[in-house]
Amino acid sequence: MSQQPETGVRNIAIFDTSLRDGEQAPGFSMNTAQKLKLAHALTKLKVDVMEVGFAAASPGDAEAIHTIASEIGYLHDAPMLCSLSRATEGDIDAAERALGPARRSRLHLFFGTSDLHLAAKHKMEKPEALKTIERALKMARGRFTEIEFSAEDALRTEPAFLKEVLECAAAAGADVLNVPDTVGYTSPEEIYALFADLTANVARPDHVIFSTHNHDDLGMAVANSLAAVRGGAGQVECTINGIGERAGNCALEEVVMALNTRPDHYAATTGVETREIFAVSRLLGETTGNAPPRNKAIVGRNAFAHEAGIHQHGVLADRRTYEIMKPEDIGLPSNALVLGKHSGKHALRARLEALGHELGANRFEQLYADFKRLADTKREVTDNDLCDLVAEDGRGH
Ligand code: KIV
Ligand code: ZN
Repeated sequence: MSQQPETGVRNIAIFDTSLRDGEQAPGFSMNTAQKLKLAHALTKLKVDVMEVGFAAASPGDAEAIHTIASEIGYLHDAPMLCSLSRATEGDIDAAERALGPARRSRLHLFFGTSDLHLAAKHKMEKPEALKTIERALKMARGRFTEIEFSAEDALRTEPAFLKEVLECAAAAGADVLNVPDTVGYTSPEEIYALFADLTANVARPDHVIFSTHNHDDLGMAVANSLAAVRGGAGQVECTINGIGERAGNCALEEVVMALNTRPDHYAATTGVETREIFAVSRLLGETTGNAPPRNKAIVGRNAFAHEAGIHQHGVLADRRTYEIMKPEDIGLPSNALVLGKHSGKHALRARLEALGHELGANRFEQLYADFKRLADTKREVTDNDLCDLVAEDGRGH
């Protein structure tokens, strides 16, 4: 969260909400044992904050939070554990009970602040909303290590009122001011300008930071989060594989690797242990039965796989021709050269040699022709297929 003056590179806190906003989406709910397993994996990933549920939502959610707080929350290197809460006494009490065993706890209190949310959900005018937020934060003060306040639907909230709400929340005890794009409505330019304005102009105690929380309804959650970081956000809220309500949340692996890959551009980094990314992504996919799509950035099966001959040739000569990250940096042992109809001789020869087949020039040309014929009939030519081809070729088919 702090600025590092020697390098000018800011450290951005990573707030993982896979076990709350992610789990809230249809098809992704998890039981206590599953959440606990993922919480261990997220601890190894070294996220800064782990939102593990919404204590007042159900007895099962409260139990999962309490179990994680008991089993992980006492560890010296545990992330800060967090529960969501509405601005009500009952919710705050439920969060306090559930997070009780954790050494460091955060209450995440939210309140819809756009005109739409005020009218449709809260049936309140602005002055009453401000009083409700202030009252709830004062009620929570001193009962958690930290308090985060979210102005739900902030990107559709009238800007002057948003500032008033955030100043009121900071004065009432919020340590983190979250400005969520609840419905994935904003654009990188707009959110950059908003964060630049808020971080410059909202009156608050020095330690208070701004947080960004973006949904992917228009496919811009990661771009918007990165723009908010450039505008001054000190925390990004995100989920593994980008799971979450509707089209999902900002994907943790994408935002973290973007910051890692382009420090020149963002002048920001995170404390995430990126070599754990692939393992956590896979665990989440297996646990929920929803593996990320094959072409998903960073963790999809194709993210470090090459089939086209020209690309394979380039990668064999120098992987940087077609890879901007190292697969080992996300915990993959290596990239993959997939053999198919687009592959060329360089990749075929390299694969054959790896399988122990050193062929002379004529035999190789014959095998290459057979390989192309086979590749036209299937999506991927496997190692077994290659060994069969070599054997058939050797028998002079
Ligand atoms: O999307 C949202 O606004 C939320 C809040 C509860 C932070 O998830
Ligand atoms: Zn959300």
